[in-house]
Amino acid sequence: MAAAGARRLYSIAPMRAIRADLLDFVDTPVWGDPFSAAVRWRPDHWLLIGDDGRIAGVQPGDHPPGPEWTCDDQRGRLLLPGFIDAHVHSAQLEVIASYGTELLDWLHRHAFPAERTFADPEVAAAGAARFLDALLAHGSTSAVVFPTVHKVSADALFTAAHERGMRIVAGKVLMDRHAPDGLRDDVAQAGRDCIDLIQRWHGRGRSRYAVTVRFAPTSTPAQLAMAGELLRADPSLHFQTHVAENRAELRWVRELFPAARSYLDVYARAGLLHRRGVLAHGIWLEEGDLPVLRDSGAHIAFCPSSNLFLGSGLLDWPVLADAGVGVSMASDVGGGTSLSMQRTLADGYRVQALGGRRLTAWCALHAATRGAARQLQLDDEIGRLEPGLMADLCLWDWAVGAVDARRQQVARDLHEKVFAWMMLSDERHLAATWVAGRRLYIRSPS
Ligand code: GUN
Ligand code: ZN
Repeated sequence: MAAAGARRLYSIAPMRAIRADLLDFVDTPVWGDPFSAAVRWRPDHWLLIGDDGRIAGVQPGDHPPGPEWTCDDQRGRLLLPGFIDAHVHSAQLEVIASYGTELLDWLHRHAFPAERTFADPEVAAAGAARFLDALLAHGSTSAVVFPTVHKVSADALFTAAHERGMRIVAGKVLMDRHAPDGLRDDVAQAGRDCIDLIQRWHGRGRSRYAVTVRFAPTSTPAQLAMAGELLRADPSLHFQTHVAENRAELRWVRELFPAARSYLDVYARAGLLHRRGVLAHGIWLEEGDLPVLRDSGAHIAFCPSSNLFLGSGLLDWPVLADAGVGVSMASDVGGGTSLSMQRTLADGYRVQALGGRRLTAWCALHAATRGAARQLQLDDEIGRLEPGLMADLCLWDWAVGAVDARRQQVARDLHEKVFAWMMLSDERHLAATWVAGRRLYIRSPS
């Protein structure tokens, strides 16, 4: 089913060229610098897409491509690399914006009941299609995704992503304790399921497998050890989990793992900290954790919308940056309240501002594109508008309506313009999304 208000177009348009304002990053922006040299701004340029779905070239607007190219003149719009949502739950879309609780209670009241329904293959297939179409309708072309504990839900997600040609990193969720009936696995069966899914999906098309530990409280030490063995057996796998999100969660982890130095140390001891590791949240990391994290190469997915909504806390991004720990951006829907990466980035700005820190549009947008791709070791394929990389793209209106149109008119420099766009825009500004050169989302005419 196509996302509401959208038509899905699966037609291949070989040798297509798009004319728009191109923005991406060639380096990592420094914190607090609105005039960063890491920004690559190419206003009014053609981006050429080859028939292999990759970016074939970029050239100025006054140098039109030859007659073999189908030209799509989108002058006055902004073309970005497709966003990468570094942490999101496909089965929680329908409990987005559920009232009244903090993390542990929210899981039991809202997340777990929704996830239990994904044991049914039909529910899982429909949910996966709805979720991926919704991502595309928000400009996100890649994501690191938690489906559910059920193998069928991982299969459904990989199948739907494969059909769309999307770069998805995902894995069956591991949880063998402290979860309700219908949502627990066991070590032996979970190990077999992971191996089967890895064999069928890891590296097939654009799918990649992530060993997916929900969080320390829902896995026994034996299950954590099994996850560590999987990662040791194949270092090309990814790893994802949650860490240090909420203070009650932190106390619980201390009770469950008294020998561990910290919450992060539970994962370190099990051999789970991995250079392709994505750890969501990391608000309440403890002393000694940052060098461990940095040395492992794993990074933190900053989930500001979720952290505000669930009252979890305020991440201090510069502390991580100073320690050399990478940060990506993530919606964490259904804890987060929108799949829109701009809304997520805007919340990220607010969270940093509450701590007296200023997040530039450059650091924010970089973390949702090239920065996330680098952390996932996928930057030779996604995250930039560079010849040879996949044509995963999103095309945006600079303004929708009089207020942001006026704000754009009076912006005095590039950072002011892009920052105002980041703070004021959302999925309503999205005109179209391409995955591997195929336009999979186009806004319906209103
Ligand atoms: N910690 C463990 N599971 C979850 C989840 O589903 N969402 C969030 N935000 N935190 C978690
Ligand atoms: Zn999460």
